[in-house]
Amino acid sequence: MYPDGLDKERYGLVPIRVEVAWDKLVFGCLSRKAPSFREWIAPLADRYDRYGIGRFTRYHRDLDRVYPINWKAFAENSNDDYHVRFVHRRLNDRRRSLDTIVRFAGRTCSGYKPHKLEVDDPSGGRRDLPEEDLKGHYADFIYPNLTPLPYPTQLIMVRADPIAPDRTRLFSRIYGLDKTIEEQDAELDSLEQTNREDTDMVTELMRNLRSPFYRVGPPTTWEGRAAHIMKLVREDVATPLAPDEFDGPVN
Ligand SMILES: [Fe+2]
Repeated sequence: MYPDGLDKERYGLVPIRVEVAWDKLVFGCLSRKAPSFREWIAPLADRYDRYGIGRFTRYHRDLDRVYPINWKAFAENSNDDYHVRFVHRRLNDRRRSLDTIVRFAGRTCSGYKPHKLEVDDPSGGRRDLPEEDLKGHYADFIYPNLTPLPYPTQLIMVRADPIAPDRTRLFSRIYGLDKTIEEQDAELDSLEQTNREDTDMVTELMRNLRSPFYRVGPPTTWEGRAAHIMKLVREDVATPLAPDEFDGPVN
């Protein structure tokens, strides 16, 4: 890409920790103190190993848009299983929403979404995964800002980048197994609509949060993932960075 080489000194580039996960996804980490990638995602690791993500290919276009929302409010929405059957009600005839399974551990969360198999079988002919993985998909979360949604033959990735207290960029990519351009476009259009439904709701929520009459109650079971993530945010904010957090060798 740079035939004469790139003079890194001129661009202020610094070394960072990089992990190429499942031979496909590149994760970067600025901190020298954070645990390894594998430890960070430990509760999800075995399931992700099984999907064979290295065989998936990236869809032909990305989604990239800035919304008038706060990053933390969006992280809460990503980890809330309660809103799904109301805000994304167009999917209700294809999902068994009331059988959603809410899980959270360490720095990850997971909402298992079983499908109505007679109208929406996500297995794509695969038989090499556990029954639960073949009969539905997951809305996972990797703290602090990544929402992966793995299906047996598809992986949706939505990354939320904070820009300002009321501005967040959502960058989304989808990877899949043997998908035609038409199938790719249908999935990308559906994700764009899902993102719009979620961000419209969070935009409304932002207005409510400014009201003196708005009071947050205790979380229900359906909001357990969101409560878990907010606990992680509070712990992080209360923990000072190490003096050499960003110094020293990268490995
Ligand atoms: Fe949503």
